[in-house]
Amino acid sequence: MVKEKRGYVCTGCGAFLPKWVGKCPSCGQWNTVVPVSSKPGKHRGPRYVSLGAIPSSGEDERLRLPLEECNRVLGGGLVRGSMVLLGGEPGVGKSTVLLQIAMALASNGEKVLYVCAEENLPQVKLRAQRIGGASPNLYLLQETRVEEILTQVELLSPRVMVLDSIQTVVLEDLPSSPGTVVQLREATARIMEAAKSTNTTAILVGHVTKDGSIAGPKTLEHMVDTVLQMEGEKGQPYRIIRVLKNRFGPAMEMAILEMTEKGLKEVKDPSALFLQERLLDTPGSVVVASLHGSKPLLLEVQALVAPSTGGIPRRVMAGVDPARTSFILAVVEKHIGIQLQNLDLFINVPGGMKIAEPGGDLAILLALVSSFHERPVSCSLAVFGEVGLGGEVRGVKGAIYRAKEAERHGFPKLLLPSSDVERVTMNAGIEPIGASNVREALEIAERL
Ligand SMILES: Nc1ncnc2c1ncn2[C@@H]1O[C@H](COP(=O)(O)OP(=O)(O)OP(=O)(O)O)[C@@H](O)[C@H]1O
Ligand SMILES: [Mg+2]
Repeated sequence: MVKEKRGYVCTGCGAFLPKWVGKCPSCGQWNTVVPVSSKPGKHRGPRYVSLGAIPSSGEDERLRLPLEECNRVLGGGLVRGSMVLLGGEPGVGKSTVLLQIAMALASNGEKVLYVCAEENLPQVKLRAQRIGGASPNLYLLQETRVEEILTQVELLSPRVMVLDSIQTVVLEDLPSSPGTVVQLREATARIMEAAKSTNTTAILVGHVTKDGSIAGPKTLEHMVDTVLQMEGEKGQPYRIIRVLKNRFGPAMEMAILEMTEKGLKEVKDPSALFLQERLLDTPGSVVVASLHGSKPLLLEVQALVAPSTGGIPRRVMAGVDPARTSFILAVVEKHIGIQLQNLDLFINVPGGMKIAEPGGDLAILLALVSSFHERPVSCSLAVFGEVGLGGEVRGVKGAIYRAKEAERHGFPKLLLPSSDVERVTMNAGIEPIGASNVREALEIAERL
């Protein structure tokens, strides 16, 4: 026999609610909530509603965070009632950034609940003291039982709740242990139900598992509205917050932050930071005007081509996409005529950044050829462009942003795809030099 699950529905906007309320939390109308069965075919009346009749849910009402870069990557801040998953390797700084955000929101008068399911309260207090600042609006709860957490959320009605972490909480009515797929999915579903029905913004911390996914299977990433990933190189103070999914803003954006004793700080000029230790006029070094989401960033691409010392030649790459780099190596052999089979190749993007877009192709190619010929590419040149397998240099998105970033950092010349020259000439004050194929690009780079 199918067990009938009961619930309530708002006849005004169609929102499904786990319990009866006088005022619908979704559309704000009074006395529109009626009981309904979730079993198909058992509804009392029509549940469909015309799009125009649905009142605005206030989705655009956003909570601004203390770090402006975080607001930018989120599309303006945290959306009320949304659910965010923050993933990252152990020790990268997830608890630090969330406590920092919680403290700042609480200081702005928002009621915030920080649920510690991993650490005890004195440990969190210590971190809070290190970051500095305190607010009576920030409430801490040390608890791992989901049922109890939800009871406390109901009692406090916070505007924002942080749960650190989703892997360590447990639903007592399920037999499986914390961190298992069933527990993760059910705990997230219950928290989401409670958060959506009370319009609380919920931020969940998730550890990145061995296979690189946040909190294990992708299920969680499908359930939540926004997925953020925090990354950082060991021993480096820089952290990247990457938007992997966003139902309320652009995805693939990223913010560059710096971990300090007082928590995370914004890096005002990341391009300058990544270029500061560049050796000028050195073979194998090329500056690329790359794009990360909507953010242009100048990075150095370094290549080292050396005779192989026997055995299989080495292909060691960091910060570039291996598949794209294989295409580029094939183009170097076929269209430039340099044989690379017996050479060791090393490619690196110093600073721990990754170029995962086609706009970096031309710079990688020039760096390789520059190292092969032991001839430097002029340090006054910035480069971008996609390289096609036919040896053609193709236009890429964001040409104007890239050009402006290079101009802002004092680069007088920009080597770019011919098809992007006109747009750049009209919009930026840098001298654009167009190339339509890799041979042309090489000639230009060698002549400057
Ligand atoms: N005094 C300090 N000065 C600068 N940075 C610090 C200081 N104390 C801690 N940190 C930074 O905070 C990081 C740990 O942060 P945090 O505990 O927030 O990480 P986490 O991602 O929550 O880790 P876990 O996965 O273990 O919960 C350290 O790796 C270090 O970079
Ligand atoms: Mg932590």
